[in-house]
Amino acid sequence: MTQHKDVAEPGYEIKLNRENIAELFAHPKIIVGAWKAYLGLADARNLAGNIADWRTASTREKSFELVLAPSLPLIPIVLEAVRNTDIRISSQDVDSISEYGAHTGRIPPRLLSEMGCQYTLLGHSEMRAIESQESIQEKTFTALTSSELQLILCVGETAQEKSAGRTIQTLREQLESALDGITANHATDRLHIAYEPVWAISTENPVEPPRPDDITPIHEEIRNILTDRFGAQTAQTVRILYGGSVNQSNILDYLDSDMIDGVLVGSASAKPGFLDMLDIVERHMQK
Ligand code: PGA
Repeated sequence: MTQHKDVAEPGYEIKLNRENIAELFAHPKIIVGAWKAYLGLADARNLAGNIADWRTASTREKSFELVLAPSLPLIPIVLEAVRNTDIRISSQDVDSISEYGAHTGRIPPRLLSEMGCQYTLLGHSEMRAIESQESIQEKTFTALTSSELQLILCVGETAQEKSAGRTIQTLREQLESALDGITANHATDRLHIAYEPVWAISTENPVEPPRPDDITPIHEEIRNILTDRFGAQTAQTVRILYGGSVNQSNILDYLDSDMIDGVLVGSASAKPGFLDMLDIVERHMQK
């Protein structure tokens, strides 16, 4: 595998910290509703329609970016439902083939871009359970080099890795592996990292999710890893999200943290209560 340390920009010496990070980032916070495989056709159409109506009815200036990640076959229906809004659509995964051709059953990322998808998730722990790091690396490379998709790369440690004190090492390995071959040019303005501790995902034994203060040092480490790899200028353009048991009662705590650029909401985003959650955030951010 090629080493790409050479793409870092050594002359660039901004030290990112809690004080300067908020002002360095022009990006709004982002909320990703990742529906996993919770919804069938009728429920997906309804929920997407209701979210689109909610977003349109809000006359206030939009205070956060909103992305929905439905199952692959639902994408055209959800795209249609949100057509006249600024809601963006994400795939939950992409394929590693870059070209159209004789690839039965495969889906080149560029097809998703052409259809109107603007994002894709990759490396979600539920996918990591059934695929290798090499596969995630190939998909990451294909998505960033052959399509216009924005990438949300999910990383996170298991309960065992956490209790063995291997959290940062695990994140470093996952990031280094997935980003192998990716240059600063590919990553700038297109790479997002979702820190999702596997033990905090609601479908695992639900436990108390980490508090923003627990997440801050981990997000700092992630940004340091990105800075080492791509240089500070590119690392600044990467939004680092938190995901794992985000719900109505804790979402504001995460979004209020300067070190958390957004949240990835799983099960709670596939229920009608997601609208209440969005409402809570919008009211709070407009204060
Ligand atoms: P959860 O899922 O919000 O249901 O915990 C998060 C995720 O799996 O990304």
